[in-house]
Amino acid sequence: MPNAENMPQFPQTFWKDSISFPDFPKLKESIKTDTAIVGGGITGITAAYLLSKEGIKVTLIDAGDLLNGVTGHTTAKITAQHGMIYDEFIQHFGAEKASLYYQACMDAKKLIEDTIQTHHIDCDYSQEDAYIFTNSDEYVPQLETEKKAYDQLDIPGELINSMPLDIPVKSVLKMKNQAQFHPLKYLKVLVDEAVNNGLQIYGNTTAVDIEYNKHPTIITRDECRINCNYVIQASHYPFYDGQGFYPTRMYPERAYIIAVKTPEKFPGGMYINAESPSRSIRSVNMDGEDLWLIVGENHKTGQGKSTMKHYEALQDYAEKHFGISEFVYRWSAQDLTTMDKLPYIGSVTKNEENVYVATGYRKWGMTNGTIAAKIITDRILGNDNPYSDLFTPSRFQADPSVRKFARMNADVAKHLISGKLEYTNDNIKDLEPDDATVTRIKGKRTGVYKSQDNQLYAIDTTCKHLGCEVNWNSGDRTWDCPCHGSRYSYNGEVIEGPAKEPLNKVELE
Ligand code: FES
Repeated sequence: MPNAENMPQFPQTFWKDSISFPDFPKLKESIKTDTAIVGGGITGITAAYLLSKEGIKVTLIDAGDLLNGVTGHTTAKITAQHGMIYDEFIQHFGAEKASLYYQACMDAKKLIEDTIQTHHIDCDYSQEDAYIFTNSDEYVPQLETEKKAYDQLDIPGELINSMPLDIPVKSVLKMKNQAQFHPLKYLKVLVDEAVNNGLQIYGNTTAVDIEYNKHPTIITRDECRINCNYVIQASHYPFYDGQGFYPTRMYPERAYIIAVKTPEKFPGGMYINAESPSRSIRSVNMDGEDLWLIVGENHKTGQGKSTMKHYEALQDYAEKHFGISEFVYRWSAQDLTTMDKLPYIGSVTKNEENVYVATGYRKWGMTNGTIAAKIITDRILGNDNPYSDLFTPSRFQADPSVRKFARMNADVAKHLISGKLEYTNDNIKDLEPDDATVTRIKGKRTGVYKSQDNQLYAIDTTCKHLGCEVNWNSGDRTWDCPCHGSRYSYNGEVIEGPAKEPLNKVELE
């Protein structure tokens, strides 16, 4: 059994702990720029770098600090092996489009490699083979089908029955010459380069709306205005939807990551299993030692068991297969999946051509974020891009995924109604430090968190996006919304959209 006492008490990412980023000032006045980028993750920073290199005046704002969102919580695999996806894409879109997706991923890898070379970036980049493995008879034929898809699309791959990582497997699909890196070391240099080229950066600046006349104007929470020609929404969930109905076209999932030292040396390679629960494994270099990243336990945001159980399940898996000599970090990440599993990259709606979105990367933000930055910056610079049609958000494919989404929307409706009825009769006086409960106060569903120094923080649990009810996430100490994935801190501040406003505070007598 895992020993939860060995687990770090608070979540923290290895990436953010191993490099420091400067703070950037808050925007306090209205400004003009050519391109305004909202969101300082891999998409926004890569786009800022590419545009500023071409002499475009760029301003980047972020609701918090740079790289505090998904990019700071990634596993940082640079690969076209995005799970078992190619057979599904062939069935869904045809071989030509499935092949384009692979090419887009490999072009993104090349762009990252070229950038590393150009600026001599020391970011622990290494070429690695990527492996999908299974130890389940049920998944062996699926890997065989996926290998046929590789052959049809000329993807270099091999079906084998063992791999460098020493765990029991029945079949393994290998994709050669993929890569991994330290994303924040890479992006820090891109930020420095872009700032040298004139990029302006503002932190703690939340975009809440866009007015669109001939040109877009971003409105911030502090009512500053950013007049510009182009807006790139690189904020994970688009804060401005137009009439694009993005909340109904994507769903959020959380995944958990533990970083451990083991008695074994990591054998190289990047691994993901085919079955559920998902398990993905790679290593990073920490002060000359291998740190193993074990990832998995995906579930819809705000739903399911106590989130600490997910960390414990990963700990159990690592103990069983590799042994843990030291438990160093744990953290979690949130991903958005679109109706057809292809990201939405392009104009937010047909009528608002100069407002771009880049979202729905599933778990594959390093390649998909780089693809998005290139497609959108090519649009702004007037360059052709072979992948822009493939990812356009206005595409529509009538297929079974629509039925699945109809079910998911029913799920949202269920949470909208039933969530309002769920609460406990816990007496908040009995709350343990560093724990939370949902109760009724003056007839209203209220979330109460007790800090380690016994302070109580009470919030109205009604999500500020579309009114679902948030639930406590014990592993990360956040209030998470099951409908579209908004996340709030213990005292109700927005950590992750689509919500833009904090939860209402509740006075305790
Ligand atoms: Fe949409 Fe909460 S995120 S209702």
